[in-house]
Amino acid sequence: MRFHVSSLVRSAFAAGMVFLTTSAAAIEDPAQGLVRTLIANGVTDVSVAPNVWLYVPQGQPATPFVPPGPFTAQWQGWVSADLRSDFTFQAAFSGQVKVTINGGVALEAKGIEKQPVAGKSVRLNKGTNALLVEYVAPAMGDAFLRLYWTNRETPLSPLPLAQLSHATSEALTRSLQIHRGRDLVAELRCTKCHAAPGTMPELAMDAPTFNGIGARRQADWMARWIADPAALRPGTPMPKMFTGPEAPAEASAVAAYLATLKGESKFEPTTGDSAAGKALFEKLHCVACHVSPEGGDVKPHQISQKQVKAKFTPGALAAFLKKPEEHFAWIRMPNFKLSSEEAANLAAYLDSVADPIESKPPSADTAVIERGKNLVATSGCLNCHTLDGAKSELTAKPLAELASWTAGCLSDSPKPGSKSPHYALTAADRVDLRAFGATDRTSLGRTTEADFLTRQSRHLNCRECHGQFEGFPAWELLYGKLKPDWAERFIAGQHPVKPRPWNEARMPAFPAYAKGLGEGLATIAGLSPVVEEDAPPANAAELAEAGRKLASANGGFSCISCHSAAEFGATQVFEAPGINFAQSFARLQPEYFRRWLRAPTMIDPTSKMPVYFDEEGKSPLPEVLGGDGPKTIQAVWEYLRLGDRMPRPE
Ligand code: HEC
Ligand code: HEC
Ligand code: HEC
Ligand code: HEC
Ligand code: HEC
Repeated sequence: MRFHVSSLVRSAFAAGMVFLTTSAAAIEDPAQGLVRTLIANGVTDVSVAPNVWLYVPQGQPATPFVPPGPFTAQWQGWVSADLRSDFTFQAAFSGQVKVTINGGVALEAKGIEKQPVAGKSVRLNKGTNALLVEYVAPAMGDAFLRLYWTNRETPLSPLPLAQLSHATSEALTRSLQIHRGRDLVAELRCTKCHAAPGTMPELAMDAPTFNGIGARRQADWMARWIADPAALRPGTPMPKMFTGPEAPAEASAVAAYLATLKGESKFEPTTGDSAAGKALFEKLHCVACHVSPEGGDVKPHQISQKQVKAKFTPGALAAFLKKPEEHFAWIRMPNFKLSSEEAANLAAYLDSVADPIESKPPSADTAVIERGKNLVATSGCLNCHTLDGAKSELTAKPLAELASWTAGCLSDSPKPGSKSPHYALTAADRVDLRAFGATDRTSLGRTTEADFLTRQSRHLNCRECHGQFEGFPAWELLYGKLKPDWAERFIAGQHPVKPRPWNEARMPAFPAYAKGLGEGLATIAGLSPVVEEDAPPANAAELAEAGRKLASANGGFSCISCHSAAEFGATQVFEAPGINFAQSFARLQPEYFRRWLRAPTMIDPTSKMPVYFDEEGKSPLPEVLGGDGPKTIQAVWEYLRLGDRMPRPE
């Protein structure tokens, strides 16, 4: 059995709230998950999957690294059990599936089964058990597979993620290099100069627009940034463009030109309350992605905000905080929907802890500005950045024609003054890029939501909040939880209501990424990227009334001591506040709801929501629906379906 050890540190924040934080970074455990091998049309892709889950809509590829069409898949690794015990494996699937445990067949089935079908009971040893799942996709229709297990103590559940592990192999290492190389090509925007056709969503990623940049950014700072972006922000995707002996003068000339691009933006300097800004910085968990101004260890992914005084013109910082994506759609800094007052307070705080750099005015020499303008057009800036009325004059070979992935931009010792940009690459980055370069690169032309989610949840540090702080779900609890359309709107910041109004933290919005993330949270768990139909049964009204009764304090489960139901406020919110029932039908996948109500602590062992059903799944209220577990659960679901129109519980 493997344990995930993280030392817990309690830190009391100024607001008086106590949050739970781990001192270690929220890195994924690299040994967790199963090795998944996919083969389509003779092409193989090996990767690590969190669980035996898969959803491939008809006509789409199973991963970006194999062509669309018929495929087979295999998951391999170990499942650990706490005690020696008999389990039954079950699967919902289309196609063919075979599950082998410790060499013996536990489940073999064929066809289309939307509800899980059971195999035979198998004995699992205490500790690790070898697991092999073989799958053949159907010739037609969507391909899907979700594996579950159950025993006396365990109601039907997916295999717990933390109990799955795998060994690494040369094939896996090599394949993961290719995956990361592809990721880097998109992240570093190679295809902005080396054209490549592709549908990978990140190939469309932009860079901050130059329109009006002179009104937002200090010229001095821009000169230093252009001279060496990675020196000001380690890990930035922007390469160094000037490297010859003239480089400092070239960077200053470009900055002087950019400073003239004032556009229409005007900023009023703001004044705010720095102490209130500090409290907000803590409450909103900015440290998930930023260095703490209080000092302490800096994690590699954390971005410094210490340059704000040098970088932003007066007033521009508060405007940036209010809408970070205004001039850069794919920015990774999310939108916290701050009020003007909150933004001004945060800006005051960040200014007060920033490096005290006074900015000098840029050169007003027209010859210098003209030189800068020329350089912007000829140096490749406009391959990534946009500027109305200007076009890039730099051309480079298409990606398919790059002969040697050890020359030019990928040279180990780039020549100063060459036309190719200088990226601050690590040795591992080069290995990964070259591994990708050695493929046929058709993967840039394919995309899956699960692949997007896996990659971007790392880039966007979703795990640095989810699982690090108390009061909202740990990251992996979100797999298969929410209806994709709700999740998409929520991640885009378009959902008007906060599900957990009592929590001072906020889910920040990532609008450019929302669709892929919302759908990916479903497909990664073997569920369709479009909400599956869930029509009400014929006796829905009757069931909903039973559901209302069940939610009531009077003769029911008293769910409303913790949960509000539309206008009807929860009666004992101090207990362990639950989400307003009026929202839950629109939010939750029906499958998740059933598992949650049946046994909440199977999904979230830390949950304070009570377990109502006994080991057999029977309800303790025989007077409602004869105490039948599934019917009782369906009755609550029909009540939730009424949303804002749900009648008051008693
Ligand atoms: C701003 C434009 C630009 C970007 C972005 C860019 N390159 Fe280049 N690259 C060039 C230019 C220009 C050359 C040719 C250099 C020369 O002629 O001196 C080049 C040369 C190369 C070469 C050598 C090609 C050969 O056949 O000799 C490779 C390999 C390469 N780039 C890979 C990459 C990769 C990988 C990325 C992303 C990490 C990337 N480039 C990003 C402009 C760019
Ligand atoms: C999910 C990660 C994430 C969170 C959470 C986050 N930021 Fe950021 N922030 C970023 C990234 C990434 C950048 C760099 C954006 C860019 O310029 O491309 C950034 C940039 C900034 C900058 C500009 C810094 C500079 O030198 O350009 C400021 C200021 C800032 N964030 C403040 C905040 C505040 C205040 C909060 C909390 C309310 C916050 N951020 C929360 C990711 C995050
Ligand atoms: C390969 C694409 C690429 C090229 C080429 C490139 N940039 Fe950038 N640039 C970026 C990205 C991406 C960012 C955002 C930085 C980040 O997120 O860390 C950026 C940021 C900037 C910023 C800061 C803008 C802000 O509002 O924070 C300036 C200024 C800038 N670039 C100027 C230039 C100039 C001038 C050139 C040409 C000499 C250039 N860039 C070439 C991709 C590029
Ligand atoms: C700065 C911290 C922070 C970061 C970073 C963050 N989240 Fe959240 N997220 C929250 C908070 C707080 C909530 C709970 C909001 C509420 O219920 O009012 C939440 C809720 C959610 C929910 C709804 C869950 C539910 O059960 O209601 C989803 C989905 C979600 N986040 C996805 C993401 C994704 C995807 C990322 C990365 C792109 C991410 N989050 C990054 C703070 C964060
Ligand atoms: C002791 C307090 C408490 C009681 C009583 C309680 N719950 Fe919960 N419930 C919770 C908590 C805490 C959560 C998790 C909230 C979160 O995700 O932040 C929750 C979550 C839920 C969810 C998921 C909601 C969503 O939209 O994500 C549903 C559905 C739910 N409960 C139904 C019920 C039902 C039905 C009852 C009565 C049979 C009940 N609960 C009784 C505390 C309670």
